[in-house]
Amino acid sequence: MSSAAAPIFSKGEDCKTNWHDASAGYDETDTHLEIMGKPVMERWETPYMHSLSTVAASKGGRVLEIGFGMAIAATKLESYPIEEHWIIECNDGVFARLEEWAKVQPHKVVPLKGLWENVVPTLPDNHFDGEEQNRSSRCRTPEPSILYDTYPLSEETWHTHQFDFIKETQVPSLLQAGFKKDKIRTTTMDIAPPAECKYYAFNKMITPTILKD
Ligand SMILES: C[S@@+](CC[C@H](N)C(=O)[O-])C[C@H]1O[C@@H](n2cnc3c(N)ncnc32)[C@H](O)[C@@H]1O
Repeated sequence: MSSAAAPIFSKGEDCKTNWHDASAGYDETDTHLEIMGKPVMERWETPYMHSLSTVAASKGGRVLEIGFGMAIAATKLESYPIEEHWIIECNDGVFARLEEWAKVQPHKVVPLKGLWENVVPTLPDNHFDGEEQNRSSRCRTPEPSILYDTYPLSEETWHTHQFDFIKETQVPSLLQAGFKKDKIRTTTMDIAPPAECKYYAFNKMITPTILKD
């Protein structure tokens, strides 16, 4: 995220413990979501969310989405021919909205409540991290994908520029986890954040695509 004016988190602030039951403040026009006074999601990001969803749906298999927010990415994902859509969300109010939303989607949706750090170890083996063989047809089933879009919950994890954030913090971790450098690709897109946006002020956004092999 590119910093605009005032800092979003005060020095040393950590919202992680209280985030789950803090009120989910969707505004009347459903264009902004605030939690604990933080600007979490805004509808002007729609083209960017659609870009992330298009990448995540491109393998056509199961998708694990992390961070439901305003359902912008999730709704776009549901417009693609994916197999299953599992969604992890830690805030109670956002999760309640996810459960309602899930009832009317065209694909199987599995809402999972909690911090992804706690939920991911409970996922079934090989559901999102392995390659599978379809036994009856002996064909490969479509590969699973992950769409990760959470929100920093503390001053320590807040980042001030999306491009530096990805290059300096995410890429080294991906390489350490075993991903190959030539399988980490990025595209940029033009975007127009409104002047009043408190968390982003740059005119481009970056869509990363990380392939396993
Ligand atoms: C920026 S919003 C996601 C926006 C969403 N992609 C959309 O299209 O509307 C981030 C969401 O991630 C949730 N979140 C933040 N940290 C999380 C964590 N560690 N585990 C699970 N959910 C988290 C927040 O409560 C929030 O709903």
